[in-house]
Amino acid sequence: MEKPAAIAAVKGFRDVLPEESRRWRALEEAAERLFALYGFGEIRLPILERAELFARSLGETTDVVQKEMYTFADRDDTALTLRPEATAGVVRAYVEGGLAQRDPAARLFYRGPMFRRERPQRGRFRQFHQIGAEMLGREDALADAELLVMLARYLAAVGARDTRLELNSVGDAVCRPGFAARLREFGRAHLTALCTDCHRRLERNPLRILDCKVPECRAVVAAAPVVLDSLCDACRTHLDAVRALLDQERVPYAMNPRLVRGLDYYCRTAFEVVAEGLGAQNAVGGGGRYDGLVAALGGPDVPGVGFAIGIERLAMIATGMEELVTAPAVVVLPLAERAVGPALALSTRLRDEGVPVGLEPAGRSLKALLRAADRRGARLAVILGDEELAAGRATVRDLVRHEDRRQELALDAPARELALRVQALVGARP
Ligand code: HAM
Repeated sequence: MEKPAAIAAVKGFRDVLPEESRRWRALEEAAERLFALYGFGEIRLPILERAELFARSLGETTDVVQKEMYTFADRDDTALTLRPEATAGVVRAYVEGGLAQRDPAARLFYRGPMFRRERPQRGRFRQFHQIGAEMLGREDALADAELLVMLARYLAAVGARDTRLELNSVGDAVCRPGFAARLREFGRAHLTALCTDCHRRLERNPLRILDCKVPECRAVVAAAPVVLDSLCDACRTHLDAVRALLDQERVPYAMNPRLVRGLDYYCRTAFEVVAEGLGAQNAVGGGGRYDGLVAALGGPDVPGVGFAIGIERLAMIATGMEELVTAPAVVVLPLAERAVGPALALSTRLRDEGVPVGLEPAGRSLKALLRAADRRGARLAVILGDEELAAGRATVRDLVRHEDRRQELALDAPARELALRVQALVGARP
């Protein structure tokens, strides 16, 4: 019979194997712990939403909506989309689930997969994962500052190396139309140097030319006016207040007047965390204020501010999680087939007491078993051979010091006692 061909994963979709997922879990647990201190509760959202949710919130002219969404017709022809981000879903849930009435100042965090059909490269995938936090119902600068303090503390807690917080204001419904008009004028004056997409953007949503990835457009845009120079008084006051609070808390940041976000819902505060050492895809996280979004999605006129962090990218630069990698401290080695039952019993009892245990199959030489235990990074091997079974006591070998403690562990000792003995031996550093 012909050997069936292996089936590959979809391009841009990848598996997260245990070594990496352990790091992810550490990142998620750190977020859970820290965000709780700031009053955030977890929201679990569907991955599939109606396509119009994103068209209406992210903006029809954004790259995400125009080129990157996985949208398909359901069997009843409803257009559905694999969520490219979660802020829109949070706001939908806030309106639909009645939080808008029950808990208008909701603080919600989420984690999970997002989908964008971008060109895969280092740090860029078609399925990627975010940890995000959204603060609804607050329009004051204190909310922005609190959120940014939390973000900074989080990055520090996971040991994210060499990151920089960049801050900007993108204006609001009062000052942005004037800025858009100035930008359109600027763009029309440089029309021949801009790509055809940008020609379209100029007419429909000129701000999007600031986000164009085409090198020629970027060169033009480098000389374009910036929103920061066109802010209305209210936006200016808001920005100054956020900055003063960040300064007070000694959260380092750099103003970047050319920072624009790739999604349309932002107003006023916009920010990104960029990291050295990530290469071209150097944004670890980003976010900002979205005061019109809840109303645009059919809810009350409630403001919001939030951020999302890319877990893949954060895992590449986080250094504070090595101690959470749990190699089994102990590996149990049944020498003979007869020892299999007792070996499982001993392992189960130790695991019941919280000791991570590796268990090898029987039927190999002691040397081969010890090599296997070593490969697992264990400190102790617990050996069950004929002699040990006869005596009802397992031999313990210290794999670092290469010392045997013959028949050290009484197999019928209480589980707690066994665990304490093993832990004492594991803890005994050379
Ligand atoms: P975003 O800037 O589009 O914002 O994405 C946030 C982060 O997700 C990025 O900084 C990056 O780390 C990661 N990310 C985005 N696309 C990819 C990709 N293709 N592969 C790997 N990682 C990626 C948002 O999604 C907003 N919803 C953030 C927000 C929350 N704004 C307000 N509240």
